[in-house]
Amino acid sequence: MPTTILSPAKRVFGTRAELRFACQNVLEKNSKETFTIPCEGLYPFQWLWDSAFIAVGWAHIDHNRARAEFQSLFDAQWSNGFMAHIIYHDDDRGKSYFPGSAFQGAARNPYSPTHVVTSGITQPPNLGAMLEILFDKELSEQVKLSPLNTPSVPDPHFYKKAIRHIFRFHEYLYRDRDPHNEGLTYIRHNWEAGTDNCTQFDAIWNTFDPINYDVQRRDTQHVNPKQRPTKKDYNYYLTLIEISRSVDFDEREMYEILPFLVQDPLFNSLLVASGESLARMARHFGMNVIAEQSEKWAMKTRNAMNEKLLDPLTGVYGYFDLRNNRLVGGMSSSNMTPLFAGIPSQKSAERLRETLESLHFAGRNNEYWLCATNAVTDPQFDRTRYWRGPVWININWLIWKGCLRYGFDDLARRIKRDTINLVLRYGVYEYFDPLKSAADNPEAHGFGGNNFSWTAALILDMLAENQ
Ligand code: GLC
Repeated sequence: MPTTILSPAKRVFGTRAELRFACQNVLEKNSKETFTIPCEGLYPFQWLWDSAFIAVGWAHIDHNRARAEFQSLFDAQWSNGFMAHIIYHDDDRGKSYFPGSAFQGAARNPYSPTHVVTSGITQPPNLGAMLEILFDKELSEQVKLSPLNTPSVPDPHFYKKAIRHIFRFHEYLYRDRDPHNEGLTYIRHNWEAGTDNCTQFDAIWNTFDPINYDVQRRDTQHVNPKQRPTKKDYNYYLTLIEISRSVDFDEREMYEILPFLVQDPLFNSLLVASGESLARMARHFGMNVIAEQSEKWAMKTRNAMNEKLLDPLTGVYGYFDLRNNRLVGGMSSSNMTPLFAGIPSQKSAERLRETLESLHFAGRNNEYWLCATNAVTDPQFDRTRYWRGPVWININWLIWKGCLRYGFDDLARRIKRDTINLVLRYGVYEYFDPLKSAADNPEAHGFGGNNFSWTAALILDMLAENQ
């Protein structure tokens, strides 16, 4: 298999030890005591799924700090269980961020908290799965420390409360986001996907006309506009917020009127993984009602994903557009994340593995780093633009773990190697050019924000693991 030889001179970090040190520094610099911002300037508040990934990084540095990261998310939970994608701590910073809390307008919803302002949309439910990583780490370290080697429990007070918070979030999702009671929850905004402008959403944008906004975007002042969603894309995103705001983010009314209602494979995969993690932790503390319900939900979602979202033609999981009653297929790295939750059968998983190793992701001569966010063979593939081509570290981390789960050790090693190489070479960026030869250009750099927190956190985790 042809491989590309990389010249060490082009690396930002000479060694893995240097990289580890830099990643710790990124987390420490982005830390605001109880929460961590994703990136200075570009993302100045707390983001939901970012914080859960970031806590995995803190778990390698300071367990208390990792717990605080979760706690600050729980403190902003709505009274109906909903958890928001942005918590606008210190809202004055909102002046330099768009859309700020005023545009979101979620504070008018009667369930929203009064002590802090949040958005009215959520993000992929990775909390349970990430919390279990911290829990397992605390457990194994306490076992090592215990002189009699009797297993002791990590702080039950914190964990029991955390389990209840996450359970209430899942309860909200199954109650308010699963209208047909099929076990598949929908997202009602593309920002809820976490993969904001992925190519599959183009099919939805073609179904309605957005308002034409003349607003001052801030993201494109921090990052080259070629790496961010277009103005037209933003018109769609803001239109969805405006429709939601017009009904004060009332779930039932939004369900009636929003043109974007999508059963997303990444979102539902993380819900399955988190549900199973929650069940295991709840059993540990004798919280059997929560454990049983979480197991039931996870199994239902797993089955529904295999029945409804798995596209038999391509062998990858698709997005179900509930508004127009159709499966939107296509190949992107987020379609591979069901591996993380152990959703595909071994046979279906083999097909996903083959796809990742094929010309669609690796290229004809392995000229691409794994895993581009969109198949490199897709005419819509765009090397530089956000979720339409570049490699993202959180998705790679999920697929890496998924490959280990299915025994795809060679592919797991390769994904880990590519991921670490990208960050060694370019720095702790938000996303990366998947084309290997691009790295030979002395002008080449990482994409999006620099000193990006989840990149730092998940690289720390990869560096700490032997596999
Ligand atoms: C971007 C990403 C989203 C992330 C946010 C903060 O909007 O698409 O997934 O949560 O940045 O890092």
